[in-house]
Amino acid sequence: KDDDAAAMLEAHELLKKFYHHLLVNTKEGQDALDYLLKRGFTKESIEQFEIGYSLNSWNFAVKFLANRGFSLPLMEEAGLLVKKNDGSDFLDRFRNRIMFPILDHHGNTIAFSGRVMTDEQPKYLNSPETKLFNKSKVLYNFSKARLHIRKHHQAVLLEGFADVISASLAGVQHSVAAMGTALTGEQAKVLKRNSAEVILCYDSDKAGMDAVLRSAKTLSQAGAEVKVAMIPDGLDPDDYIQRFGAEKFQHDVIGASVSVMTFKMHYFKKGRNLQNEADRLEYIEQILKEIAALKNSLEQEIYVKQLAREYALGLDVLKERLSELSRTME
Ligand code: UTP
Ligand code: MN
Ligand code: MN
Ligand code: MN
Ligand code: MN
Repeated sequence: KDDDAAAMLEAHELLKKFYHHLLVNTKEGQDALDYLLKRGFTKESIEQFEIGYSLNSWNFAVKFLANRGFSLPLMEEAGLLVKKNDGSDFLDRFRNRIMFPILDHHGNTIAFSGRVMTDEQPKYLNSPETKLFNKSKVLYNFSKARLHIRKHHQAVLLEGFADVISASLAGVQHSVAAMGTALTGEQAKVLKRNSAEVILCYDSDKAGMDAVLRSAKTLSQAGAEVKVAMIPDGLDPDDYIQRFGAEKFQHDVIGASVSVMTFKMHYFKKGRNLQNEADRLEYIEQILKEIAALKNSLEQEIYVKQLAREYALGLDVLKERLSELSRTME
């Protein structure tokens, strides 16, 4: 029913404001605020992204919502509450967590993600799929980033909340995130509709780099031009900005983004010793297969030449192997 959806939206809006109040104005929120400031979040980023804190209580939200006349079963359906194990009562879903509101593409608050301040799991607890929150469609920060994306003809796709917040405060306001899950075709289409080019800037760990390969494919299939912005080993974009600052992020990371093929040439070298002949041969074969899969013959030419130069190989030999590989792929 439309009434149910309206009540769910209102509950999210009210709770978001109260979580934020708890974080910035109360003694109960002091540790959470200290945690954020110590990590490099600023007053400005906390305001702009309406970050909050959920009390260490089993029934704060239960009472908050009941007092305002919301139906508790409906609030459970909205993902704000959970049913007690014996089914007799409702409990708060989010307790003692830093609260990141998740907005839909129009700017309505439709879900939350709550981060623990310790190394407990899960690190981020998310609202479940609900009538309001369709995870495969929503991109974090899209409602704020949209106009910047259109102006720049470019979107920057990052992994997580802190990355988007730091990037935005560092002047890269056309930043969004798929929030940990693999980028879906629907999210890729949203980006493609609003920008010609998408820059992938994921964490520099194995999970992040593997995700770059998958997301690049999804984005190309949606018709977007894809580039990859690489971060030094072991860091994520938020870490990088905290350590090296906005200027270097803009110029040395986003401004230095490379083609997907150049990223692959870099990534497939990892864990290989290219001084070793067998390793080198395997690497070259792997890259040739990637080149063979390219549709554009001009692009193929450019990368084959690059390989020939880099490994002092004859161009004709490489091209011969390339056409063999192309044939086996058909
Ligand atoms: P990361 O593990 O890279 O976390 O997950 P992060 O963004 O760097 O978080 P911080 O800096 O430690 O606070 C990337 C994104 O994946 C989603 C979140 O959206 C997170 O920002 N995620 C991660 C979850 O939804 N749940 C998790 O338990 C972990
Ligand atoms: Mn801008
Ligand atoms: Mn990560
Ligand atoms: Mn990360
Ligand atoms: Mn991080």
